[in-house]
Amino acid sequence: KETVLSGIRPTGFLHLGNYFGAVQNWVRMQHEYNCYFCVVDWHSLTTHPDTKELRQNVHRLLGELLASGLDPDQAVIYVQSDVPEIAELYLYLNMLAYKGELEKTVTFKDKVRQHPQNVNAGLLTYPVLMASDILIHRATRVPVGKDQEQHLEMARNFGERFNHRYGEVFPMPSAFNYGASLTKILGLDGNGKMSKSANQMATIYLADDDDLIRKKIMKAKTDSGPTAPGTPKPDYIENLFLMMQLVSNAEIVLKYQQDYENCTIRYGDMKKQLAEDMVAFIRPIREKAKAIENDKEYLTYVIKKGGEKARANAMETIKLIRNAMGLNYV
Ligand code: TYM
Repeated sequence: KETVLSGIRPTGFLHLGNYFGAVQNWVRMQHEYNCYFCVVDWHSLTTHPDTKELRQNVHRLLGELLASGLDPDQAVIYVQSDVPEIAELYLYLNMLAYKGELEKTVTFKDKVRQHPQNVNAGLLTYPVLMASDILIHRATRVPVGKDQEQHLEMARNFGERFNHRYGEVFPMPSAFNYGASLTKILGLDGNGKMSKSANQMATIYLADDDDLIRKKIMKAKTDSGPTAPGTPKPDYIENLFLMMQLVSNAEIVLKYQQDYENCTIRYGDMKKQLAEDMVAFIRPIREKAKAIENDKEYLTYVIKKGGEKARANAMETIKLIRNAMGLNYV
């Protein structure tokens, strides 16, 4: 079985981009692959150095992941800081990562623009830490959304440089999605990808209550509709269809596709339908997540069990790494 690794930052509630870009694939993959899924608390420190809410955020995120269908008996679910071997690999890879390439990373440039007062070294080397998450398990498949593509390429570069300099330790990882291409969910205002830091009315969280979900979808950007057959869909309309494909049944999607082709589509009706299907989709996850988040005994079981398994595997890789590098003196 191939090894899978993916990670997610505990910086707030899960939104539809996280869910459809990553988590939904994780849930499917756990039955087919040797899976590791990591809550990357160290990564969150690059932008959220305040740790007051970290514990609650980690518990909440685990609750949402488990409620989405991740099973601690199928996949190794763990917290990054429980595996210090990741930090050791990060140190080695930092010597193989060039300042110039790190500065050119799109996510780094975005963060510099967003938080010019906190351009710390951790932010610059974020892709090195992410590469360490992946390579420490010698993973080959990494289920992520489209925004992580460049980070994956960097992970391959760092792994390849290590192999070239010290000897083959790492297989090459690549981004994975069950669909034909990696997923990108846009915000409902059509301004870039859906994210925690964007306009809150444009981001749907799994924790949103029914009415808030309806309100957000009804406010989603649309226009007066196509005027001639064959008009390509603007990306904010394409995004509504994408969401509909993810939560509505196929006949309903087909009906609106045909309405679009025939220029008879009424976006108000489409959004009403999408809102109801979205509410029905999210409600059971939200309710289950709340229950799990408060079940501290179960969370402790999950965190401990996952941490032990992840660490055991990471220690195997560290042995290979130290041997390859000749860091053994007795
Ligand atoms: P993070 O925490 O920002 O997001 C978690 C996952 O959600 C996906 N995602 C999206 N997919 C589609 N459309 C969107 N609008 C959208 N927004 C977020 C992300 O692609 C991601 O898969 N650097 C990573 C965390 C990480 C990681 C790793 C991932 C750390 N180490 C190792 C994979 C492997 C991040 O910030 O994801």
